[in-house]
Amino acid sequence: MISSSRAMRCAVSVDPGEFMPQLDIDPSSNRPAYARWLRHSNDITQQFLAIGGMADFISLGGGLPAAELYPLKAIQSATERALSHWGTQALEYGPVEGLPALRDAIAQRMSKRLKGRFTSDNVIITSGAMQSLEIIGKVLIDRGDCVVTQHPTYVGALDAWRAREPTYVPLDWRDRQGTLCSDLRQSKFVYAVPNYSNPTGVLVPTSERVHLLACAARAGVWVLEDDPYCALHYDGPAEPALMTLDCAGLGGGAYAGPVIYLGTLSKSIAPGLRVGWALADASMIRMLTLAKMASDLSGSMFSQAVAWQLLQDDIESSHCVRIVSAYRERRDALCAQARAELSEWFEWEVPPGGMFVWMRARDPRIDTDVLYRFAKEEKVAFVPSSVFYHAGQLNNAMRLNFTRGAPAQLREGVSRLARAVRRYLNNHA
Ligand SMILES: Cc1ncc(COP(=O)(O)O)c(C=O)c1O
Repeated sequence: MISSSRAMRCAVSVDPGEFMPQLDIDPSSNRPAYARWLRHSNDITQQFLAIGGMADFISLGGGLPAAELYPLKAIQSATERALSHWGTQALEYGPVEGLPALRDAIAQRMSKRLKGRFTSDNVIITSGAMQSLEIIGKVLIDRGDCVVTQHPTYVGALDAWRAREPTYVPLDWRDRQGTLCSDLRQSKFVYAVPNYSNPTGVLVPTSERVHLLACAARAGVWVLEDDPYCALHYDGPAEPALMTLDCAGLGGGAYAGPVIYLGTLSKSIAPGLRVGWALADASMIRMLTLAKMASDLSGSMFSQAVAWQLLQDDIESSHCVRIVSAYRERRDALCAQARAELSEWFEWEVPPGGMFVWMRARDPRIDTDVLYRFAKEEKVAFVPSSVFYHAGQLNNAMRLNFTRGAPAQLREGVSRLARAVRRYLNNHA
């Protein structure tokens, strides 16, 4: 279903609506116009980062970890030791591609975790995975180039590439029509979040990953694998990464395949570190370094020094055990409450990992763009499905986050949402 209200919102001169940034367009002004891509943007992520800090609001919206579980003491201690170790170097500009010791540490960790052979030449450190997405857009997308992505897909990736004006083709993992290879042939790269996808929580089976890699190899395209949720598994481990499957088919040499793997410390330690990385063929890393140079000159050496120390301390392993158990309980609490209060109007699968439940409306009257307004009045937030499509195509689903709130808060959030649905259907449908 095409959302006509969404099309209106994209036209800056009309009602800006819920998700448009305030562009301050004054028709009587003779200043030059803002760039065209802003008309197709939205500010949903900015709204969720703001709502996350409002005390009376329950946010089932953002993709935020539980703040009360951050390993604050371990980070405090790592910061002191990192500053002693690195001294003023931690306060300098650093190499564009990142602190060499951190690149080494990531290469070693990734070699072990992904069962490949990586050196620091295969690694660039970025400000979260988000900056990797942005610089990959700079390196690969010319205006009108095609990207094959999951539909729905991560809104941050759409945001990162919006100014480059790509076209999109849906990634059909099961390849029901047998068209995946030809779809890929028309594209520069395929973008996927196969482990507990954002927004759907789906864990893609190994057979479908293998098929995608085979088609990508035949088509000769890059494969961008974004993997922030791999450690957050609640019902058994994640499937092997595309990078792992690709390495298995190579000999023992340094990695030179088509997969660009993105990792981050945001979900497994804390997003405030802003430390992520891309792992790829060394020539791709050189291109990404050129693109990054014009983005930020140098990432924060301070954060990278602290991240290096945290990896030396192996904080991630022990911290993940703690958060996985807490998040499993939260997922179960949210899903149980939703079964009691939302199942008349929505259906969903319980996600085996990650941070999100994807709820599809059973009731055709429900437009989640409109429901979002009623939910805000009840002081609860979710993310409407339209923002996960490049043209806002589908407005009959919503993404709920279960990691940010304690179980009681999540249950209250779902009850508020049920009240919002009831009021919406009574008044507007
Ligand atoms: C699929 C996906 N990729 C990338 C990111 C960005 O993560 P980072 O905090 O590392 O920039 C997120 C954050 O929610 C995400 O869900």
